[in-house]
Order: sequence, then structure tokens, then C-alpha cells
Amino acid sequence: MPGPGQAPSGRPETAILAKKFFIKTYGCQMNVYDSGRMADVLAPQGFVATDDPADADLILLNTCHIREKAAEKVYSELGRLAELSEAARERGRPLTIGVGGCVAQAEGEEMARRAPLVDLVFGPQTYHRLPQMLDRVRAGEQVIETALATAPKFGALDALEAPANGTSTAFVSVQEGCDKFCTFCVVPYTRGAEYSRPAADVVAEIARLARTGVREITLLGQNVNAYHGAAPDGGSEWSLARLVHALADIDGIARIRYTTSHPRDLTDDLIAAHRDVPALMPYLHLPVQSGSDRILAAMNRKYTTDEYRTLVDRLRAARPDLALTSDFIVGFPGESDADFEATLDLVRDVGFAAAFSFKYSPRPGTPAADADEQVADAVMSERLGRLQDAINAGTRAFNAGFVGRRLDVLFDKPGRHSGQAGGRSPYLQAVHVACADADAAAALIGTVRPVEISEVLPNSLTGVLADAAVDSGAGA
Ligand code: SAH
Ligand code: SF4
Ligand code: F3S
Repeated sequence: MPGPGQAPSGRPETAILAKKFFIKTYGCQMNVYDSGRMADVLAPQGFVATDDPADADLILLNTCHIREKAAEKVYSELGRLAELSEAARERGRPLTIGVGGCVAQAEGEEMARRAPLVDLVFGPQTYHRLPQMLDRVRAGEQVIETALATAPKFGALDALEAPANGTSTAFVSVQEGCDKFCTFCVVPYTRGAEYSRPAADVVAEIARLARTGVREITLLGQNVNAYHGAAPDGGSEWSLARLVHALADIDGIARIRYTTSHPRDLTDDLIAAHRDVPALMPYLHLPVQSGSDRILAAMNRKYTTDEYRTLVDRLRAARPDLALTSDFIVGFPGESDADFEATLDLVRDVGFAAAFSFKYSPRPGTPAADADEQVADAVMSERLGRLQDAINAGTRAFNAGFVGRRLDVLFDKPGRHSGQAGGRSPYLQAVHVACADADAAAALIGTVRPVEISEVLPNSLTGVLADAAVDSGAGA
């Protein structure tokens, strides 16, 4: 029998129209983009954002499944939310809890079973349907929506007028999903097949963002350089390079970046765009994962270290100052000492400006998780430490080269201390300058200004504004 305040299904009634929402975002930049778009979907329903989960009627966790630790965080957060949910019920203001993103996609019904306090479980390709899902929750249902088709989502999102949020930088997803099936990776299962948005829709979204004051856009995709969107004139398709050329012509857009790229899809026209399009920033995140051909083959990456090195040479020939960053996995099944040493060699040879490195995490349903030769955690820890030392040495060397030089900085936020302004260099380094006062710092936001770099700190550069103001984002 349903108890007091219970709907016939046995789930608590959430009859009060929820009005304040709180979203917690885990994982990659695509999730950051998605959380912003969830807010856009909720706004016409009368929802306003709050920073305080205790004040929210609706809490959404936008989750990441890439490594075990990332996925575990969701369940510990849900444990904490149980108390909040109880307190809200006691106040007579029920709390609706939704889990979206890649853990939701991967676990679906299992999550709904394991965490009964979750009212809705929805995947990365269904969040445009949040209003309908919330209606069903209000009717007492526990909702699970994990369809994987991508086109309907973007179709629905393109019909929304995204509110201006006053930022100078923005992420825009142009491509989603992945057909590459690296043997360690869950993304093809959580995001679905590769899909590229029509070019006209991307151009329209970015033109709209530019009108709200956005100066820098980062084009996002799990394999963003596999982009092949329908051309505006119907007929053919646009490559990422073609899209970049078109976006550079949009009034107000001073800087373009894209991430994440796969070495296999780094086409000649994209390399040429790094030479020819001044607004395309001299920065490229190009994950290599390992410096061992044997491991790359086992990962199903479909390139060799020589091919990767050749790409780097060609990129640097096109854009000599290009900053390269990367991702590495240590302890992939079967990785020997010699394989790992080859990775260290690659790091030293290429000279990355920065890189992320991770211990291999076996993911359910991926081929490598079942491999016999799993590497012991202690070995992975030792390798990770050595790799990070090598990467950090590269980062220090890269940054040290800028002392005394001028860099164009796009200021996008006040600094940590009053009277400071913070921004990014073309190479994505965080740069801080001290201004006369807070008003002077605020006036810098949204502008690109040359800064003379005076000091390199562990995670940022500091400098002083150089006198000549150039309000364009090109070059260093
Ligand atoms: N599409 C991008 C990567 C997306 S995932 C590419 O192909 O490069 C981001 C990073 O997470 C990967 O580059 C990889 O380094 C890391 N990663 C993915 N799966 C992992 C796993 N099972 N264990 C550890 N790290 C992983
Ligand atoms: Fe994952 Fe590989 Fe696809 Fe990148 S290319 S998202 S690592 S399967
Ligand atoms: Fe994580 Fe999904 Fe992004 S698994 S890294 S949130 S695509």
C-alpha cells in the first residue's frame, strides 16, 4: 500500500512544481557544455539556477564514466544527497534528484535500482526531454531515458534561445560520439555513434554567442577533428577546417580552439588551417596515450609513434609556436618496463606544454578490462609518478621561455586578489595582471590585451599590461 505522500507506484509524490535547480558537473568539457544546455532547457519551464543544493527543488548530477574513480564519485554524492532529500521532505518541499551523463547512460536501470532516491536517470542524448521527464516524475514515475540517437537532441536544442551568461569564452559541441572503440574506453558506449551537427546550426549558435559578448569559442567533440557536418548549401559536407574558416569570419569571434582531436583524423586541411587562420589559436590537445607501438596497437589507436611524431613535425612546420598537449595512460594491460620507457622518451622528444596522465582503469564492457596481463597498482603508481615528473619538467621548460615576452591575453575573469584580472594566453596558459583597482580589472574582461610576462608560477603566469592595446585575438 502506498504510504502517506506516496504515489500509487510507491514513489514519493513530487507534486510541487520544482523551481530552483542545481547542477553538479563531472568529467569532460562536453559535460560542461551539456550542463549549460540543460539549464537552457529548464529555463523556459520557470527554473532558475541556484548555487546552493540545500535550496534546490531539483538537483542534477551530470556524470562521467571514464575511470572507476569518476563513476564512484556519483554514488558517494548520492549518499550525501539522501540527507538533503530527507530534510526537504520534512520541510514539505520535496527534492527531485536526477542523474544524467555517462554513468547514467552506462548503468541505466541498474542505477535506478541501486539508488532508489534517484527520480530520473537520463543519458547524454536525452536531456532535451527533461521537461517531459519531470512531468512523469511528478506523476510518481521513476524515469529512465537512455536512448542514444544524437540528432533529435541537437534539433531540440537549436530551437532554444540560449540566454546570455556574460562570459567571454564558451564551449560549443559540434561533434559527439565515437566509432573508434579504443579497447580501454567507454565513450563509444556512453555517447553513441559519431555524429556531426550541420554546419549552419553551429555557425548560428556561435554567431548568437558572439552577439552576447563571447570572444573565444572552443569547439568540442569526443573526436572533434572527425567532424563532417552537412554543408549549409545542402549537397556536400564541411570538414572541421572548413568550419574553422567560416567561424573566423563571425564578427566578435577573436579566438577559436577545438578539442579533443584524434591523431588519425588530423587532416592536411586542418594542419593548413593552423598556418592560415590567425584566429585559430596555436594550441592543440592531441592525445597519444602511449609511446609504445605494441601498446598503441593493443589499444586499437591505429597509429604508430613514428606517425605521431611525423604529425607533430608537420604541425610545427605549419605553426612553429604551436603548444602541444596530450593524454597518457600508464599500466595498460601488458605494458612492460620497456613500453613505459618508450613513453618517457616520447614525452622528452616532443616537448609537451602540458599533459594529463592516468592509471589505466578497467571499464566494464571494454575489451581491455578482460585482458590477462593487468599491471599491478604499485607498478602503475610508480610509472605515473615518473611520467608526471617528465611532463612537469616539460611544462616548466615551456613556460619559462615566456619570461620577458609579450603575450596577447583574453581577459575573462577577475583574478583571485582584488584589482587583479585573469585570462588566457594563445597557448591556454592562465595569466594574471595587477590593475589599479577593481574597476580597472573589470574593464579588461572581454578584451584581448598584450601582456609582458614577468614571472612564471607553478600554475600560471603573471605580467603587466603592455601599453599598446590590440583588440584582436590573433597570435602571440
Ligand atoms: N577521444 C579522446 C579521449 C577521450 S577520454 C582521444 O581519443 O584521445 C579522455 C582521456 O581519458 C583519454 O585520452 C585517456 O587518456 C583517458 N582514459 C580513457 N579511458 C581510460 C581508462 N579506461 N583508464 C584510464 N584512462 C582512460
Ligand atoms: Fe575513447 Fe578512443 Fe573514442 Fe577517444 S577515440 S573517445 S579514447 S574510443
Ligand atoms: Fe566522462 Fe562521458 Fe566525457 S565518460 S570524459 S563525461 S564523454
